[in-house]
Amino acid sequence: MKRHDDERFYMTTAIAYTSGKPHIGNTYEAILADSIARFRRMQGYDVFFQTGTDEHGQKIEDRAGAAGKTPKQYVDEISGTVREVWDCMNVSYDKFIRTTDPDHMERVQKIFKKMHAKGDIYKDYYEGMYCKECEAFYTPSQIEDGKCPDCGSEVHPAKEEAYFFRMSKYADRLIEHINTHPEFIQPVSRKNEMMNNFLLPGLQDLCVSRTSFKWGIPVDFDPGHVVYVWLDALSNYITGIGFDAEGNSTEQYKKLWPADLHLVGKDIIRFHTIYWPIFLMSLDQELPKQVFGHPWLLQGESKMSKSRGNVLYADDLAGIFGVDAVRYFVLHEMPFENDGTITWELMTERVNSDLANILGNLVNRTISMSNKYFGGIVEDKGVYEEVDGDLKTVVTGTAPAVEEKMQHLRAADAITDIFNLFRRCNKYIDETTPWILAKEEDKKDRLATVLYNLTESIIIGATLLEPFMPETTGKILKQLNAVPRDYKDLDTFGLLENGTKVVEKTEILFARLDVNEVLEKAEELRQKQLAALGIKE
Ligand code: MSP
Repeated sequence: MKRHDDERFYMTTAIAYTSGKPHIGNTYEAILADSIARFRRMQGYDVFFQTGTDEHGQKIEDRAGAAGKTPKQYVDEISGTVREVWDCMNVSYDKFIRTTDPDHMERVQKIFKKMHAKGDIYKDYYEGMYCKECEAFYTPSQIEDGKCPDCGSEVHPAKEEAYFFRMSKYADRLIEHINTHPEFIQPVSRKNEMMNNFLLPGLQDLCVSRTSFKWGIPVDFDPGHVVYVWLDALSNYITGIGFDAEGNSTEQYKKLWPADLHLVGKDIIRFHTIYWPIFLMSLDQELPKQVFGHPWLLQGESKMSKSRGNVLYADDLAGIFGVDAVRYFVLHEMPFENDGTITWELMTERVNSDLANILGNLVNRTISMSNKYFGGIVEDKGVYEEVDGDLKTVVTGTAPAVEEKMQHLRAADAITDIFNLFRRCNKYIDETTPWILAKEEDKKDRLATVLYNLTESIIIGATLLEPFMPETTGKILKQLNAVPRDYKDLDTFGLLENGTKVVEKTEILFARLDVNEVLEKAEELRQKQLAALGIKE
């Protein structure tokens, strides 16, 4: 396999609003990003993975007020919670940016000033229908029954002095860029949506400052105005690595920009593929190489809602299923383009069938047999049979297949390939029937080879699993007394040294769960959520 030791890879997630604790949907994005970052690191890339929190705006000012806190106290708490959830899920970010970081704020002020000096930002009045929830103005044609087209909340007429960004100035350049860079917006269906629904009909200028609330980055040359959330938020991708609009950007910025990947949810792809590239053009900076719009994770048929008490949180799920089971579930069950579904029943079913049966059993059986027949020593005695060929083909073919899938950010398919390797191993046990070989003295060497082949296959599979389920990889390799295989060797079979001794007692990787017990725990969590809101059923 080819390593990429001298290449850098800068990737980001969207920065989460600090309006409340992030649910499993927001967390899914961080986990997906983490699997991509970890896979690239395994390939040797010098990865810089940035995530963080988006902390300004009227909604947050309002929520803080309602909670009897200052906005800063409020965002400190929630940003801390976001970080805790990411940490709990083993999200291996290199930088956690907050839009209230003083250096971010200062850099945004300079960005605003530069755009203004260039004539790309001008002052005018905004009149239109405003959605407080989305912090966005809509034209009358976008409004549906007096409701916001994005979130369905009531919209209200509003007029205020504001700065605007001249979007139309750069529209042709952007259309040209999108047309000549097919990899820029992924998946392709999202590209068509952006072109047909937004760019081709003509771009409206975008409001980039507000005067009706205070909780934002002040426009330093015009007191009363604060930078409107999207310019503030999107800029995090460059301020976080040291961009300076006055020409004193850091070495880190020079090394990392343009970003290789912005990973965002489908709802905000418009901001990332239209407004963000145009802001960058205004700043004479290169455009990110790719914006990937992932689908959404929905709970059952319905949307998660606090008032129904059905909001799923990653840490609660991890408490019941374990961190890696949650990672496995969200990564494996999410289709590439369509929304995915999470339910307690589905999660239980996956843990039992895939994690306990296919993976856990395989590791457990293999280690137990090594102990039972050879005192834990794994040795290739060179007694091959035809059936070994197919096992080896599947095992050595997995890394190239996974690489190909991850190149296109198809994490679910990559995991399927890895589990097919484990499935193939289980089939190999059925085909070779070690317990029958063990009965005949002259089959001992064959039996040893079978167990060597299984152990070697598991090491390769477990190494490939690390980006998706890092704790599980660690546990498996520890039990096998093995180290992760180097990426370049993942398509080679037979590198495990003879004489390796596996642990005597296996640790159960995934316990089988009883669905009724899981549902009882789920109900307890739901009642707790409702009680916290003071809702009685
Ligand atoms: N603050 C903005 C992003 C600014 S980026 C410069 C924002 N925040 S958010 O907290 O609402 O969403 C953060 C990310 O989570 C977004 O990419 C969003 O699409 C994603 N998701 C929100 N709900 C989701 C699901 N139910 N499922 C999957 N992703 C979801 O938008």
